[in-house]
Amino acid sequence: PWAEDRARAIVDDHRAMPGALLPLLHALQEEFGCIDEPAVPLLADALNLSRAEVHGVVTFYQDFRRTRPGRHVVKVCRAEACQAVGAESLLDHVKRTLAVSEGETTPDGAFTLEAVYCLGNCALGPAVMIDDTLHGRVGPARFDALAKTHRA
Ligand code: FES
Repeated sequence: PWAEDRARAIVDDHRAMPGALLPLLHALQEEFGCIDEPAVPLLADALNLSRAEVHGVVTFYQDFRRTRPGRHVVKVCRAEACQAVGAESLLDHVKRTLAVSEGETTPDGAFTLEAVYCLGNCALGPAVMIDDTLHGRVGPARFDALAKTHRA
């Protein structure tokens, strides 16, 4: 959960670097799982930006989440090379199986689904990333097995 002291320490570590906003947002999301509402005024003050500017950046980049994710984050690649080998139907399968849309978290809090555009694993599509682990050639059955392991 959000901790003001911890957030301030992260801001102090990064604020002097040029173009600190993006690295700071990444660092805060890494620490807290999302960009919490109080992060916006904190960053605006620290970097001499308006709240609207900070908010604009947070909402512009798909990388930043506004709500805390589930225990596991599932990213399904939707870029071209993966699409050519069935990523769209995999994504449909994942949505049906988890009963969520992109950006949503399952009611049990186990998974948050996100779509991404290229995971750098194009030769081995469809590519799926679960937390920090990349999986290649993921078909529906393989996804179900992976989901089961992570849910256990
Ligand atoms: Fe899917 Fe690159 S296109 S990993």
